[in-house]
Amino acid sequence: MPSSVLTLALLFGGRSGEHEVSLMSARSVLSVLDRARYRVIEIGITHEGAWLTGENALAAFEQGQTDELLPVTLHPDRSRPGLYVIRNGSGREILEKLADVDVYFPVLHGSYGEDGTIQGLFEMADAAYVGAGVVGSAVGMDKGVFKEVMRAQGIPVVESILVLRSEIEADLEAVVRRAEALSEYPLFVKPANLGSSVGVTKCRSRSDLAEGLIEAAQYDRRVLVERGVPGTREIEISVLGNDHPQASVAGEIIPGADFYSYDAKYILGNSRLVIPAALTETQADQVRDYALRAFRAVDACGMARVDFFLSEDGEVFLNEINTIPGFTKISMYPKLWEASGLAYSELVNRLIELAMERKRERDRTVRVYRRNA
Ligand SMILES: Nc1ncnc2c1ncn2[C@@H]1O[C@H](COP(=O)(O)OP(=O)(O)O)[C@@H](O)[C@H]1O
Ligand SMILES: [Mg+2]
Repeated sequence: MPSSVLTLALLFGGRSGEHEVSLMSARSVLSVLDRARYRVIEIGITHEGAWLTGENALAAFEQGQTDELLPVTLHPDRSRPGLYVIRNGSGREILEKLADVDVYFPVLHGSYGEDGTIQGLFEMADAAYVGAGVVGSAVGMDKGVFKEVMRAQGIPVVESILVLRSEIEADLEAVVRRAEALSEYPLFVKPANLGSSVGVTKCRSRSDLAEGLIEAAQYDRRVLVERGVPGTREIEISVLGNDHPQASVAGEIIPGADFYSYDAKYILGNSRLVIPAALTETQADQVRDYALRAFRAVDACGMARVDFFLSEDGEVFLNEINTIPGFTKISMYPKLWEASGLAYSELVNRLIELAMERKRERDRTVRVYRRNA
């Protein structure tokens, strides 16, 4: 195989509630990977967390028939780089080298994919990988910490408080009182570390709030309560790059429900994307400026989709950053790049280049203190 062919490991599925979305994103990525440039190793991660590989691992995951696939692993020991298949040999498990990998592409949304955990494994293994590193992923994922970082940057975010599951369990009434001191209803309750609107409740009354808190606390040990932005419009923008990130045009989501809930995202299928979003010049500038500043502030890299609320009176609030956004051909992140002149397949190539660029940059870091004698 010519050395210009890169070995790319595509990871999909995963332990989060967004497992199925990940398979769809990975299908789109796989469909544009140029086989003259990339040798692709498909790795599916099951709901239970097992890593499996095979010729057509993605198809096997899509069909729910993974029996023929082989267990595969990535060693955290950097002196044993690449992927190993785990073979069964007379009562023992044996690691057999499968391939060296030039770049890992985690197309994994949510927990254990987008939150810095798998990025930590890539770092231990000294591997190049697409997307943000440990800090960018973790801060981007945690709505509580993320909002504090935005506040420190002077980027407007909606007023919120963070409460612990243990506080909700110990004294629900006290938490309700703190939340009500934040603002009038509606209030939004959400688990700090989740996505896809899972566990998110729009609360119109005290009883909604109590129920919402208990619901959200099932999904995380920390829960965010936020002032609801009345009549909000949902604006999103895509960012691409490492040290010199660029922003796309902005788009708008018109949810097909009362808010952009799990059902509106994946079940009803009646939400619409409007590209470009109808914004005043000032709003468009704010969205671009805040998105790029947020990307830098969390030390994101490669890609991120940054989501905003636009209130009835035209105020822009940054809501969240997604470091591995939905990536099907019809998802907002690539659609916004397409509208900005970058085709889907070029976007994928660029992300892979950025992963290698980041690895070269990281390799320049001195790991041993060279003391001047
Ligand atoms: N403070 C808020 N005001 C108005 N709508 C909100 C607010 N917080 C969340 N929402 C609605 O809930 C949706 C999901 O919340 P979000 O914080 O984006 O969580 P997720 O990470 O699950 O997407 C948003 O897209 C929006 O429709
Ligand atoms: Mg969201």
